Amino acid sequence: MNMENNKIPFGTITITEKAKELVIGALNSKRISSGRLVREFEKKFAELYGVNEAVAVSSGTDADALALAVLYDYGAKRGDEVIVPALSFVATGNAVLHAGFNPKFVDVERETLNINPHLIEREITERTVAIMPVHLMGKPVEMDTIMEIAKQHDLFVIEDAAEAYGAEYKGRKIGTIGHLAAFSLYVAHIITTGEGGIVITSDKDMAAILRSLRSHGRACKCETCVLNTTSGYCAKRFDNPAKTDIRFVFERHGFSSKMNELEAAIGLGALDLYDEIVAKRRHNLVRMMNVISKYSEFLFTFKEESYEKIGPHAFPIILKESAPFTRDELVIHLEKNGIDSRNLFQSMPTQCAGFSFLGYKLGEFPETEYVADHGLHVGVHQDIDDEQIEYLDKVMGAFVKKY
Ligand SMILES: Cc1ncc(COP(=O)(O)O)c(C=O)c1O
Repeated sequence: MNMENNKIPFGTITITEKAKELVIGALNSKRISSGRLVREFEKKFAELYGVNEAVAVSSGTDADALALAVLYDYGAKRGDEVIVPALSFVATGNAVLHAGFNPKFVDVERETLNINPHLIEREITERTVAIMPVHLMGKPVEMDTIMEIAKQHDLFVIEDAAEAYGAEYKGRKIGTIGHLAAFSLYVAHIITTGEGGIVITSDKDMAAILRSLRSHGRACKCETCVLNTTSGYCAKRFDNPAKTDIRFVFERHGFSSKMNELEAAIGLGALDLYDEIVAKRRHNLVRMMNVISKYSEFLFTFKEESYEKIGPHAFPIILKESAPFTRDELVIHLEKNGIDSRNLFQSMPTQCAGFSFLGYKLGEFPETEYVADHGLHVGVHQDIDDEQIEYLDKVMGAFVKKY
């Protein structure tokens, strides 16, 4: 533990020697735009999740947006609606708009931080095309209910699994239950490429559409398309009887969202340590849950059900209504004692200015707004040790004792 400034930092990243070697190798090869390493990273990521396909993009937000934009090939129209929780990192709502859809926000459950499945059906209209549940802080959404609603109303389910590495629901990995799932590879996440995102699916057609979408909507749908050959050109172009130069054939409205080789190199190194990092973070998560249970008069966190595993993304702490102190007083106390924290996001529709044009009013999402005003989260990352968790306990204890 780094006791120099008594700090428990919020996050960390692990960059392996293998990652460094691969980065140097890519630099020496002068091939740094999307190529062999990106393909290898995608293959390994798909294997980790036991799915057919993984398509790497330049951010988790783009992973969400591109996964949604796939739906235009299945009949969706601009301005159609996507159901999302009101509580998430703002990227979820932004991605819906980036993809050309309208977000329909649904309140969360205070205890799980996730979309309240019982409030979804009343938001479904003839324009609804998808539900995008977010497994916030790694807590699995009630996927059985979500999938049942989607089946009843003929909707797609796109999981925002950005925070859900290592999470499981009824024996299935989170990210493998919906039609598509989007992950972030930003530094705050268990697998990181620095910046980046990745979409997984077992549907080969959807994967081909994603590959087209990330490259401006190019016509090529083959697995070794423009982006993926070492020469930089699509191999299939040369088999094309019409000899069309497909580099400039665009058959859908696309994005510019490729991952580069340097990012993939960092990700490939990180994948080797995945199991070890998840295990260490799970250990920390469980210990922190025990710590918070000691202060249950005023504070709570989420519960792990017997049929699930919470992905150890970070550790949420929410004030109960009985708490005689404010979230900000607690945050200042933690900060003074060198413990880094972040608030638990905001209600996208009613507390984020970027969504005010949608016309929602403060008070419409009471549970989301409660969590946003009374919640915080601290790190559970692999560089936090037992001694630091004991320190967190001591600092919390000293604060709560004052009341
Ligand atoms: C729930 C959720 N969705 C989407 C994203 C977007 O990821 P990125 O920052 O890689 O764009 C994040 C980022 O952390 C997130 O937490």
